[in-house]
Amino acid sequence: MPLLDREPSKDLGGLPKLPLPTLNDTLDTYLRCMKHLLTEEQFNKTQNVVKQFGAPGGVGELLQSKLMEKRENKANWVYDYWLNDMYLNNRLALPVNSSPAMVFPQQNFRAPIDSLRFVAHLISGILEYKTLLDAHALPVDYARGQLAGTPMCMKQYYRLFTSYRLPGPDMDTLVAQESSVMPEPEHIIVACKNQFFVLDVVINFRRLNERDLLTQLEKIVKMADSEEERLPAIGLLTSDGRTEWAESRSVLMRESTNRDSLDMIERCLCLVCLDGASGAELSDTARAMLMLHGGGVAKNGGNRWYDKPMQFVVGADGCCGVVCEHSAFEGIVLVQCTEYLLKYMIGSPSKLVRAASVSELPAPRRLRWKCTPEIHKLLASSADKLQRLVGDLDMNVHHFHDYGKEFIKKQKMSPDAYVQVALQLAYYRCHGRPVSTYESASLRRFQEGRVDNIRSATPEALAFVIAMTDGMLTTSDTKKMELLQGAITAQTKYTIMAITGMAIDNHLLGLREVAHELKIEKPEIFKDEAYLISNQFILSTSQVPTTVEMFCCYGPVVPNGYGACYNPQSDHIIFSVSSFRESPQTCSAEFVKCLVQGLLDMRDLCNKCNCASNPVEQRKQILKRGGKKCK
Ligand code: COA
Repeated sequence: MPLLDREPSKDLGGLPKLPLPTLNDTLDTYLRCMKHLLTEEQFNKTQNVVKQFGAPGGVGELLQSKLMEKRENKANWVYDYWLNDMYLNNRLALPVNSSPAMVFPQQNFRAPIDSLRFVAHLISGILEYKTLLDAHALPVDYARGQLAGTPMCMKQYYRLFTSYRLPGPDMDTLVAQESSVMPEPEHIIVACKNQFFVLDVVINFRRLNERDLLTQLEKIVKMADSEEERLPAIGLLTSDGRTEWAESRSVLMRESTNRDSLDMIERCLCLVCLDGASGAELSDTARAMLMLHGGGVAKNGGNRWYDKPMQFVVGADGCCGVVCEHSAFEGIVLVQCTEYLLKYMIGSPSKLVRAASVSELPAPRRLRWKCTPEIHKLLASSADKLQRLVGDLDMNVHHFHDYGKEFIKKQKMSPDAYVQVALQLAYYRCHGRPVSTYESASLRRFQEGRVDNIRSATPEALAFVIAMTDGMLTTSDTKKMELLQGAITAQTKYTIMAITGMAIDNHLLGLREVAHELKIEKPEIFKDEAYLISNQFILSTSQVPTTVEMFCCYGPVVPNGYGACYNPQSDHIIFSVSSFRESPQTCSAEFVKCLVQGLLDMRDLCNKCNCASNPVEQRKQILKRGGKKCK
């Protein structure tokens, strides 16, 4: 029996601990997930390796018993393993590769002051939200969708404005500011023209009002304009690979001036990046790219500090959003926070007119940098790499308007499962094979829960996509519909397994890491080719729904892969698809084309089959088609 306890936990609002699946369940599921993604020869080998690992009295059992001990002693047995594996050990640059962005609705700023008014209003919202957080007054989230109604862990919210990802030579550290140890941050860092300014939001024990904030922002813009005082774009260093940035940071740290500046950035609430107009046409795709990488060195690429979890970007051309360092929280928490801010801005009119500014506010401080020739060299290297990343990102944001969640619900199918099957169909149509797929499943029903993986490339999805492509002409609609139902059922079952803590990825990771901790030789199962293939997420997908007009986007996680984020709405779905131009195998526009075609084919199939089983619907469809009967 899996260990799934329901005992209340006093410190985490009665949430249960994350369960630990049984070894046999995980190994069986692993084989089922991988069989159709491997050659027969690879699979036969894997089957033997897995059997050996899971044999009674074998190494698998030993590792499982250690995990059971961990589960007893910790709030969440996988948390540290997961955080290190997913983020802190990853050496890739944060922009595009790791940090997602939310793209806000395009703003219409008629004059430069309009964007500063927007920022002042936004900062007021941030400070209101921070007050709620500090008072622990944020209402508890309850799960929606599948298994709705259970309370969710709120811990991630408390990292939004208080954490920092410190680069390290081998691994990074997620630093949390504990108010008992360090003073609460009371400043925001404003980036403008690649310069960083300290904007104190509390002066003389008084929180600045919107009028004060606007006054301070105007001073910052003026200071940033002064050419003589301009310092190198140090923020570029944070866009580099993590090991490279850790090395550059240690060079910076040799100077006390730099140490002071770094300290101010590391302890701030968040960044607000006042971007210059990008000069690009502001399509959704262009705006998504600007959020993810700032447009490179020539645009706003240096006007960032990627280690900080929340960077609000406000472009002079109205291109706005937020870029996030991901290790501290998931997209859903980010959405909740940004929705609060956007609703605050719509719902509470700007107080600029009414409030009086305190005239003698001290001017915001520009952060100083002492740059040696060595730093200049490092900056040039970081700039080159960012430029390459900018050129490499192939982004495509598509609003699919033919239908949305409501149509899918009417088919009595889970909208999320349906979109996942459509993504499988799109990939197969483009590339003629299935690939290891990641879909994030929230584990916030458990103490300190983050996510596990829904392996959406199910054998049932493969059977369906083959029938819709290779077997298009030879498979009847009834059979295709049966296969679609089978694929949706399999996907929904996996989803429930994942959100109840019974998926396999975290468990396999735990077993691997316990072996490492025990210093025993890496078990064969983790050296096997199938394990490597299983972790090459060529399709990295995530549902990030919003109730306010905005969308999420992120990059692929492997060089030959796609990032596919979707935001299902009742009558439309927004897709943000990304890939790398350097890969000859991928093309985001082609993927989107196949996705759209698949979604339309799936709708037609549902309509035809519903029409066959429902005479009223049949008459409606015949009328729609101008009198022609369906096959
Ligand atoms: N018939 C009719 N309606 C159905 C249905 C069916 N068979 N199955 C589900 N629905 C309804 C649900 O009741 C729900 O209704 P609501 O809109 O009124 O709430 C709606 O369809 C959506 O449900 P579904 O599509 O099944 O998905 P979900 O909302 O449960 O989401 C996950 C599934 C996996 C995405 C979600 O559990 C999760 O983990 N989200 C977090 C993802 C994440 O972390 N993203 C950010 C990563 S950084």
